[in-house]
Amino acid sequence: MCGIVGYVGDNYDISVVVEGLKRLEYRGYDSAGLACVNIDNSINSKNEIKYCKSVGKVGNLQQKIFQEYPNLIAADSNFKSNQQLNVIAHTRWATHGEPSTINAHPHLDTSEKFAIVHNGIIENYENLREHLIAQDFTFKSETDSEVIANLISYCYEGDFFAAVASAVKKLQGTYGIAVISTEKPDEIIVASKGSPIAIGLRENDKIIASDVVAIAAYTKQVIYLSDDDIAIVTSNNIEIRNVDNVVIEREKKTLDWDIESVSKGEYAHFMLKEIFEQPQVLANSVRGRYNLDLATANLAGLNLTAQDIVRLNRIVIAACGTSLNAGLLGEYYFEDLAHIPTEVDQAAEFRYRNPIIEVDSLVLAVSQSGETADTLAAVNEAINKGAIVAAICNSVGSTIARRCGRGVYLHAGVEVSVASTKAFTCQSVVMLLMALMFGRCRRLNQQTGQDLIAEIIKIPQLVEEVLAQSDEIHRIAKKYVKCCNFLYIGRGYLYPVALEGALKLKEISYIHAEGYHAAELKHGPIALLCEDTPVMALANKMPGKDKVIGNIQECLARKAPVVVTATKNDADIEKLAVDDVIWLPEASVYTTPIITAVALQLFSYFVALERGCEIDQPRNLAKSVTVE
Ligand code: G6P
Repeated sequence: MCGIVGYVGDNYDISVVVEGLKRLEYRGYDSAGLACVNIDNSINSKNEIKYCKSVGKVGNLQQKIFQEYPNLIAADSNFKSNQQLNVIAHTRWATHGEPSTINAHPHLDTSEKFAIVHNGIIENYENLREHLIAQDFTFKSETDSEVIANLISYCYEGDFFAAVASAVKKLQGTYGIAVISTEKPDEIIVASKGSPIAIGLRENDKIIASDVVAIAAYTKQVIYLSDDDIAIVTSNNIEIRNVDNVVIEREKKTLDWDIESVSKGEYAHFMLKEIFEQPQVLANSVRGRYNLDLATANLAGLNLTAQDIVRLNRIVIAACGTSLNAGLLGEYYFEDLAHIPTEVDQAAEFRYRNPIIEVDSLVLAVSQSGETADTLAAVNEAINKGAIVAAICNSVGSTIARRCGRGVYLHAGVEVSVASTKAFTCQSVVMLLMALMFGRCRRLNQQTGQDLIAEIIKIPQLVEEVLAQSDEIHRIAKKYVKCCNFLYIGRGYLYPVALEGALKLKEISYIHAEGYHAAELKHGPIALLCEDTPVMALANKMPGKDKVIGNIQECLARKAPVVVTATKNDADIEKLAVDDVIWLPEASVYTTPIITAVALQLFSYFVALERGCEIDQPRNLAKSVTVE
């Protein structure tokens, strides 16, 4: 979704922010823009804010800048000073108002003294806007964000920081903002509430961003703002205060990943790269997290004692999208292995349906990005209700991870493709480890624990075997490129995988795909079956396979083409007159769903590839959904 990048320092080249914006492209956006303070040192000096915005890709913005400001790269360009560059930039994913140049950020106040970029949603913007219009402020865009620029201007009484502080006090909703002003051309002020802002530290310049991916190429040292922090950032200093002007210290963090890991390497798409990374990252998720002698998992970050675990009376998993599907798989693990009643909530519903949460309830927030607004809102609700709240996140230092204060990181590395792949399998394996740990505290004997560890250790090798089928899966995928609808069916552990398989296909190929419990087929979806509506039936050797075979027969009887995922050499499947079979390695009940998900990721990827889709950044989608 929206992304913020800013730079203050003596490097006159705007490439730091343009590169930063490009690194944020993966999050999904529809327009982009930047603004900087042009310092005028002449006698009748009048600093000015220059800005440029455009619809579409960052490349369009870059082109427009070169057309409008041809000397931009030169130190004496009219776009910026030859003393210092102070620039804020943004990629926008439309919420209030269509994608257009006017709605793109930065937004300036009526007097053009202030420019802001904003991530998040201002819930009371209509009231504020009316109030400001009554005070003769004017508005150009349909956005909620523009109100922030005018509000700062309204609050300005000669002190830039004080104006931002009083403005943000009046805002309801979430914000990550960066503000520049002609009055203080050497400062960027950033503020955060429920929407992240990080500051990259270098000696003579500073880079700010809503996602450290935009910073990592330039420095590994960062400071994350916490809620209600406001920071004055200059080229050689950072001062963080709260809204009441009290100075606050925030710890410096070191990014532990390399920017190289955020490049496609030899792969055509990030999605393919990330699918193929799975053996490695799944090994990373598991490494050092089990103890064969004790036959259990070691998840110290959960900060739960054996007594805490024995006392747990319920697990509630809150998540969205692919993470929600991983949560559904987690439900099977927790109930089967640990016998803890588990429910999975669409995070957006969690706080509105008044969930039953008690002190011995564990709420798990599952989120790749750790920034999803609905999941964050669920976390806040669960904390307010007194539950134990833990995060299963991939992004280290993300808002959800920090808010929960306990949890398990995936160690999957940065996931760039909007369609999540490696995060899903790593989330699943982390929940499997967690279920093992909880199960061992509550009911599983040592032998069962050791057997389970043996299966978990085998996952990377099994995934390698699935990836070795890539060409075959590509061959099969080509046959289904023209279809408009696709049904995915599964039972038991493979039911969440059917949901995830269908989600993956619709996200990147734009084929309408739905996942169903195979038993639900008869209760409606079967009406859709015909020779143009193929079915992906998950019929691996698992409990319930025979019933899935029955469902496959029902599909064939209605002339629907059927693709099956099956366990190698399964004679029952060999006998079936289905159109295609994706043969997968023999694996246990607990690991089969994970490897089957990988096969379905490849299938979706190849269908989308053959349809010529924009795989890594599908239309309308955002990698990190930071608004509710
Ligand atoms: C967006 C992404 C999905 C992702 C979902 C939840 O919709 O496009 O790929 O599964 O958000 O994101 P999270 O970061 O919380 O896992």
